[in-house]
Amino acid sequence: METIATVSEMTAWSRGQLRLGETIGFVPTMGYLHEGHLSLMHLARTENSKVVASIFVNPTQFGTNEDLSTYPRDPESDTAKCSHEGVDVLFMPDVNQIDGEGYQTFVEVEGVSGPLCGLSRPGHFKGVATVVLKLLNMVKPSAAYFGMKDYQQLRVIMTMVRDLNVDTRIVACPTIREADGLAMSSRNAYLSRDQRKQAVCLSEALAKAKELFDRSEPDAAKYLGAMTARIEQEPDAEPEYIKLVDPDTLEDLTSVRNRCLAVMAVRVGNTRLIDNMLFEA
Ligand code: PAF
Repeated sequence: METIATVSEMTAWSRGQLRLGETIGFVPTMGYLHEGHLSLMHLARTENSKVVASIFVNPTQFGTNEDLSTYPRDPESDTAKCSHEGVDVLFMPDVNQIDGEGYQTFVEVEGVSGPLCGLSRPGHFKGVATVVLKLLNMVKPSAAYFGMKDYQQLRVIMTMVRDLNVDTRIVACPTIREADGLAMSSRNAYLSRDQRKQAVCLSEALAKAKELFDRSEPDAAKYLGAMTARIEQEPDAEPEYIKLVDPDTLEDLTSVRNRCLAVMAVRVGNTRLIDNMLFEA
């Protein structure tokens, strides 16, 4: 596996591969890799002749009171994991490679960035959309792989790629969970032992919503009640939002037919966790 730190080398490598007729699968990450990330690399490996992964903790998607300075990092272990997954290039740009002096261009995806996490994290999706478009331009992948755990991020990126005619296929990959159901996330590392036990309430609340959907319950209020009740059982769990939304627009639903997304952000202690489940009849 080759490690590349500069944009010029990354782009030259990709241009060379594309000239040879290779297809490039790309997995952008912020590092501290877990099984969820590795599953994206695995799928990229099966669908493409070359795989690029990136690690860049993107400052512009963190708010001023968020965890940029404490975001977990382990480049050595991440490098070994990427190599083990058969990644051809690990792109680890320095921050000044991404937005140096004089930087002044941002991408804003209007509708789907607004609700849910958009309300409590103003500017977050602008930071995500901008860095993802930049990375796509640098790596020039045929396909890029994103986890459904960050469902709103996925919708933002899909909308950007559609609206700006970006020539990359966006692949949505299933959420990977711990044995007890907790969605894998680099931020799970912040949880104490006791909080880790309580954090199972997110996936269990979603399972309660699934039971209602499987019984064809049409009343959204019943789903919200069941999910909220499960979260409130845990002393350190504080919901930021618990919603039932249209999976395409992310707008609230009052009644449920054959497709909906149950989605939540919950603080467990100081750690903000998100999770969701897509229901389709
Ligand atoms: O999901 C992430 O890790 C990040 O938001 C991403 C897509 C790598 C952009 O910084």
